[in-house]
Amino acid sequence: MKNIVVFASGGGSNFQSVINAISSGKLEAKISGLITNKTGIKSIERARRNNIASEVISKKEFSEYADYEKALLEQLQSFSADLLVLAGYLRKIPDLIIESYEGRILNIHPSLLPKYGGKGFYGLNVHRAVIENGDKESGCTVHLVTKIYDDGPVLGQTKVPVFENDTPELLAARVLEEEHILYPKIISEYLKKLD
Ligand code: GRF
Repeated sequence: MKNIVVFASGGGSNFQSVINAISSGKLEAKISGLITNKTGIKSIERARRNNIASEVISKKEFSEYADYEKALLEQLQSFSADLLVLAGYLRKIPDLIIESYEGRILNIHPSLLPKYGGKGFYGLNVHRAVIENGDKESGCTVHLVTKIYDDGPVLGQTKVPVFENDTPELLAARVLEEEHILYPKIISEYLKKLD
């Protein structure tokens, strides 16, 4: 059984969708831990309710960046991580981690990458830009994480329509619903390919 470590910074509805996929038998894996960069977020509560260990590791606690990277790496090793799953994690993954877990870090992004990816494209900003540009469709993308933001190879996408009178909030909700289906499915497919 492979171990997943989830990274989240907020509500964690995608984290929940992975938990649900495991409990319903759609995804064969164990979530060995949650890593967050802040306290008091709903993701930590979700972990607690599901008996998943959680650790808060914030860059602010370290005076040297190298010590921060090392703390993250040691935590991942103690969680025996096979696959890192970013689920609304709003911090850059340090290069040391990307190098140590090359090809083993997945992210989900609420647009059809390469459109609306990179710096500044997070949360409602993404959906606002899609609507302002008059796009007729949007969606979500699961991709491998590399050192360049939102740039790694795409593993799967789901499209949704953009309607005439859409708001960023309505579009976000429509995309999020698809994220919850796509992410566990791609994680499952990807884990089967890992040795
Ligand atoms: C999702 O829209 C995801 O695509 C993006 O961050 C959001 C996280 O939402 N990376 P949640 O915390 O999983 O509800």
